[in-house]
Amino acid sequence: MSGPAPENTIEVQQLVKAYAGVTAVNGISFTVRRGEVVGFLGPNGAGKSTTMRILTGFLPATSGFVSVCGVPVASRPEDVKRHIGYMPENNPLPEDVRVSEYLAFRGRLKELSGKRLRTRIDTVVELCDLKRIRHRIIGKLSKGMRQRVGIAEAVLAEPDLLIMDEPTIGLDPHQIIMIRDLIIGLRGRMSVIISSHILPEIEATCDRVIIINQGRLVASGSPDDLRHEFLGRANYRVEVAGETELLRGALAALRPGLALDTVDGPDAQGFTTYEVACPDSDDLGEPLVHALAATPGLRLRACARTEASLEHVFLAATRRSWDATLEDKKPGQKT
Ligand SMILES: Nc1ncnc2c1ncn2[C@@H]1O[C@H](COP(=O)(O)OP(=O)(O)OP(=O)(O)O)[C@@H](O)[C@H]1O
Ligand SMILES: [Mg+2]
Repeated sequence: MSGPAPENTIEVQQLVKAYAGVTAVNGISFTVRRGEVVGFLGPNGAGKSTTMRILTGFLPATSGFVSVCGVPVASRPEDVKRHIGYMPENNPLPEDVRVSEYLAFRGRLKELSGKRLRTRIDTVVELCDLKRIRHRIIGKLSKGMRQRVGIAEAVLAEPDLLIMDEPTIGLDPHQIIMIRDLIIGLRGRMSVIISSHILPEIEATCDRVIIINQGRLVASGSPDDLRHEFLGRANYRVEVAGETELLRGALAALRPGLALDTVDGPDAQGFTTYEVACPDSDDLGEPLVHALAATPGLRLRACARTEASLEHVFLAATRRSWDATLEDKKPGQKT
């Protein structure tokens, strides 16, 4: 196929996958642009691995349309595989071969040979920090090393799309940071879609997040957009000495609807740490500092805006979709 590369690396329209007795994917649509790094989130059983396997051409869909780099997956699964590097969940690797032998073998399957194969192996060995272990037997490597071998294999043939299903599962914090840096190093070179339960990792590496639950898409956007959509509020952490009721009064006079939570304290100096939640995302910092400092009987020691984590967004988005499912079932419910 020739012509300009399509703008979208992935197109998924109304994708459905039904196994006997369970609809794992239930009408999902999304796109991933060229060079974009996307996090694919969802609770256990949400349908992440199923969607990823369909994208790679390994698993047929029940209905819907999926294309990768403009190639329809259903009718041309073998062509699609040429565009994709795939690191499956619990990536199985052969135990009794050396890292270099494994990469050479996989490279030949990906139609690399001669000087180009050697150059690509050197490049991915460097990229994935495998230099010291390239001649070791895979069966004797640690989990983190194996994960890096899996990533090296997936990027070996310079795919347009890298699909990684839980690449950091079971790794220690050092290894997680290493994989995170590796993914950041791939940014702009290829489109990447990563599923994970480790949300700070996703936040650090991904341009955009797609959240699915029970086979349906429940949210899509940058972590900032999603924070705004699902939480829609600004939080401030303040350290104040004085009567809590005085603080409540000052907040009520400043703006109706502000919520107050005690986080910690009072400490030895009499300061209590509170969280003040503003129902919208307006910047309340300056008026808040002025109001608290100007209230007789209160002493303000610190005030800082706190960011809601992607974890909060994930919980809010999945909760909202579960609530919607319950609402759907209410009329004429029999069971
Ligand atoms: N081969 C299969 N046969 C029958 N049901 C399956 C099969 N594979 C997956 N499922 C079911 O489909 C649903 C989605 O599974 P999937 O593995 O895609 O979820 P996931 O989001 O990857 O979950 P996890 O976070 O646990 O990896 C689950 O209910 C699962 O039990
Ligand atoms: Mg999975």
